[in-house]
Amino acid sequence: MSGSLLLGSGWHPFLFREEISALFGDFEVLHPRLVLLDKSIDEKLLSRLSRAALVDDLLHFGGYSDVSDFDIISEKISNWSKENLPSGSFAVRSKKLGSGIEGVSRRELEKEVGAQLFSKKNPVDLQNPQYEIVIIVAGKVEGEVHWDSVKITPCIIWGIRENKWEKTNYIGRQPMERPFFKPISLEPRLAKLLISLAHREVINPQIMIDPFCGTGGIAIEALIQGMDVFASDLDPTMVYGTQKNLLWANKDDKTIIKVEKCSVKKIADLWGGKENCIFVFDPPYGRNAWKSDDGLELFLSALEQALKIDSQSVISTMLPAGSESLENNPDVDYIVMGRPWSEIEREINERGWRVNLRSPVKVHKSLARMVVVCHPLH
Ligand SMILES: C[S@@+](CC[C@H](N)C(=O)[O-])C[C@H]1O[C@@H](n2cnc3c(N)ncnc32)[C@H](O)[C@@H]1O
Repeated sequence: MSGSLLLGSGWHPFLFREEISALFGDFEVLHPRLVLLDKSIDEKLLSRLSRAALVDDLLHFGGYSDVSDFDIISEKISNWSKENLPSGSFAVRSKKLGSGIEGVSRRELEKEVGAQLFSKKNPVDLQNPQYEIVIIVAGKVEGEVHWDSVKITPCIIWGIRENKWEKTNYIGRQPMERPFFKPISLEPRLAKLLISLAHREVINPQIMIDPFCGTGGIAIEALIQGMDVFASDLDPTMVYGTQKNLLWANKDDKTIIKVEKCSVKKIADLWGGKENCIFVFDPPYGRNAWKSDDGLELFLSALEQALKIDSQSVISTMLPAGSESLENNPDVDYIVMGRPWSEIEREINERGWRVNLRSPVKVHKSLARMVVVCHPLH
């Protein structure tokens, strides 16, 4: 078997693919939520994939069909499975994406493929099988919240689930479960996503710097991934809170953890020059901006300081935007951080950065955030 099939979260298929691109480079898109990596599943791939926030499932790729004839599909899946299913108990599971496909009943497919494969070598065990053949019936999706560049072609995709893979589970590390909590805390899945989007090529970044650490939402996720964490905030209460949360989350004595009270404007003096860094943060806005400082000015200071600390680093951040930005019309200059995006982009460029990715994310009815990833201009 070769090829790894990744199923992305339905929450934001576009960002799922951007995340896979940041972590693995090239892939083939079979469906907005299904991508095929030209790599077999091994420890290296599993370790890199543990950094992803938006992956829901991992399969050893079996095949793809856009034909919706039940008999043809069940025969294809059965033939492939007969050749590829190792000895051991198995179950056939199916998943529906969107509206599924008319005329293709998932239950019937499960039954038919199961009946074809059932043998002494491969007994059926629906409770605790050694292997799971997964059939994904992917149809149209109505009313998607987030804009996407890939249009859906209904299809059926199958493979064998990798049972060493486990979807990230945030139980026990939600903001309110931590020792120090404030409503500004970033949700762990978003924090993890911002970190993964800051990856490049195959190397893992060693240092994560957050100059607006607040309660440490991003720092906790970086620490869990074994990165050294350099966090700072101008508010001493937040510095104390992040220290408390990181002490609680730290399970490994080898990682370096530093948390200091510092204005974003001084972090290059505070931390000095470094290598293999990523800068991940959500800057203050509205009432979070410290005293009279303007959120945009602080964001731009972060860009300047980051380049001084590590001129090869990556910035991954989320900026406040109006909900109209969710349409993502390329002809509209949406307001981000209170200014037209074109002005923000110019300011970013003037500070030595280029925008590598920009994608809106819904927060609630009238509020969105613009996820922005910047790479050095040079
Ligand atoms: C949106 S919050 C960050 C929340 C954080 N990601 C979390 O998960 O808790 C922004 C933070 O920036 C801090 N801040 C405001 N002005 C600052 C400045 N000039 N320099 C550094 N930090 C500042 C605020 O105290 C606040 O904690």
